[in-house]
Amino acid sequence: MCGIVGYVGDKGTVDVLISGLKRQEYRGYDSAGIAVITHDGHISSAKKAGKLQALVDELAVRPVAAGATGIGHTRWATHGAPIDANAHPHLADGGKLALIHNGIIENYAEIRDEMLAAGHEFVSETDTEVAAVLVGHLVNSTGDLRTAFAQAVNRLQGAFTLLALHVDEPGLIVAARHNSPLIVGFGDGENFLGSDVAAFVAHTHRAAAVGQDQIVALTADSVTVTDFAGNPASLEEFEVAWDASASDKGGWPSFMAKEISENPDAVANTTRGRVVDGSVTIPELTELGDDYLRGVSRIIVVACGTASYAGLVGAYAIEQWARIPVDVQLSHEFRYREPVISADTLVVSISQSGETMDTLMAVKYASEHGAKTLSICNTQGATIPRESDAVIYTHAGPEVAVASTKAFVAQITALYLLGLHAARVRGTLDATELARNAAELEAIPAKLEQVLLTGSTVAQLAKWMSDTPAVLFLGRHVGFPIALEGALKLKELAYIHAEGFAAGELKHGPIALIDHGQPVFVIVPSPRKSEVIHAKVISNIQEIRARGARIIAIAEQGDAAVLPYADEVIQIPLADPLFEPFLAVLPLQMFAMELAHAKGLDVDQPRNLAKSVTVE
Ligand code: G6P
Repeated sequence: MCGIVGYVGDKGTVDVLISGLKRQEYRGYDSAGIAVITHDGHISSAKKAGKLQALVDELAVRPVAAGATGIGHTRWATHGAPIDANAHPHLADGGKLALIHNGIIENYAEIRDEMLAAGHEFVSETDTEVAAVLVGHLVNSTGDLRTAFAQAVNRLQGAFTLLALHVDEPGLIVAARHNSPLIVGFGDGENFLGSDVAAFVAHTHRAAAVGQDQIVALTADSVTVTDFAGNPASLEEFEVAWDASASDKGGWPSFMAKEISENPDAVANTTRGRVVDGSVTIPELTELGDDYLRGVSRIIVVACGTASYAGLVGAYAIEQWARIPVDVQLSHEFRYREPVISADTLVVSISQSGETMDTLMAVKYASEHGAKTLSICNTQGATIPRESDAVIYTHAGPEVAVASTKAFVAQITALYLLGLHAARVRGTLDATELARNAAELEAIPAKLEQVLLTGSTVAQLAKWMSDTPAVLFLGRHVGFPIALEGALKLKELAYIHAEGFAAGELKHGPIALIDHGQPVFVIVPSPRKSEVIHAKVISNIQEIRARGARIIAIAEQGDAAVLPYADEVIQIPLADPLFEPFLAVLPLQMFAMELAHAKGLDVDQPRNLAKSVTVE
């Protein structure tokens, strides 16, 4: 949830830290801070409540002195309100030690009492300061930062990535990882630490994910790793596949606007190399083996938020093509229901960040109970793919805006590829059908480009509706999860009360919400494959229109049946009905963004949210 960065080198530590935090601000943005060991051997630090800019403004007035070793943090508050005193870094050992933390330390109260009894004082309400004071206390008894840090992390419970530095060892950062991410970046005469590669991708593309329960000692020219017991461990280096510029706005007014415009690329890049001669083969699935896929009796998708809606869309396609029953469960509900799972249950997790704690815990639970686990993830080296038996990476590129857009369509793409791969292996679709569906998928990026052209119409609509207190979304079949996602985007970005419903459910309750002028988005399925579903949605529209609803229909080009009943129609290109979610979600993403713009809100960093939720 928080973003951390560490640097040892001579590049200008403050700049490296601030630019690393800037690229990780999506992880938390209620306060930020840095600490540097200065060239004359003391700690200079600054921290400020508010977005990173508040810290930058503070540094302009009260600069932190130059040094070659530093740590930085951007916070999403868990323990203690987002005020200056609770921001990280936290100092201890008479100001000689600085420490930052991502996660939650569950046994902080007990350690705090112990430290108070030993005569230490606290200036914040955070669990993090407890860790800082504990390390400082142990430095005094052991005389050595590495030993003290190792002893401290063995005492802590919960989830934590910790970084600490001490003036007595000026060229060293020690870091530990337990249930929270930590990535090393290898430079030339300099080294980096980050919550993700975004922290240092401007400086190096060589990275490695630190394993669970490992400690890193980082200097300018060495990276040493041990486990919590002190045994040597190694890191597996990988090459970061994207460039620093990919996580810049590149001339767009917001990351969200840029990322929505990248929807076509997200689908194309995720498909690339996985469709060969009309047949889908995902090389990464060889880890599971064809025999295993043939014997799978059930798929359970676990995910949170937008990723769970991608799962709901994918379930229709996988069931239809591969004839495997698919359940979609929210990760945080999954393990507490004592799910029925066995060796022929494939648990597919979906996570853009690959760090969502609820989803990680669901994956661990599934593995422990004998299921095979497959991760669909957008972030190389993240924890969830590392904990899974196999991974299909979505290649949406870095997603910085907190509310997910292009990663959502990339997740649906990966699920459709999984469905077609499994259908081929299981023999549930013939070669013609496999090729036809693969071609439909490959045609989606060009169709998304056309939908992007409706942007100005959608923006106009959003402007007209900027005062609306509530918006409803209706869909059937694959349109239902899109209705849920449309409502979620509006809640996240524009803070408007929004609900998504299955259109068939309307008459069982939600129709009571319809009053004069109530805006309702309706995702209208194509009449070409199923006239019945289309006709049912048209009659749903008539029912709510008769009660005063204002209808905004998302319908395929040429669907004349919808015109008499809709106040507005947003047209999308023709596609096989199973592929309509790709096209229908895009106007809803644009609508939520434009309405938030119209209300003057920050679309990239909505209030109270964080992109990567690494606490349960
Ligand atoms: C947070 C974000 C959502 C996101 C969800 C799952 O709640 O605010 O936008 O959909 O986490 O994130 P993940 O990284 O697991 O896809």
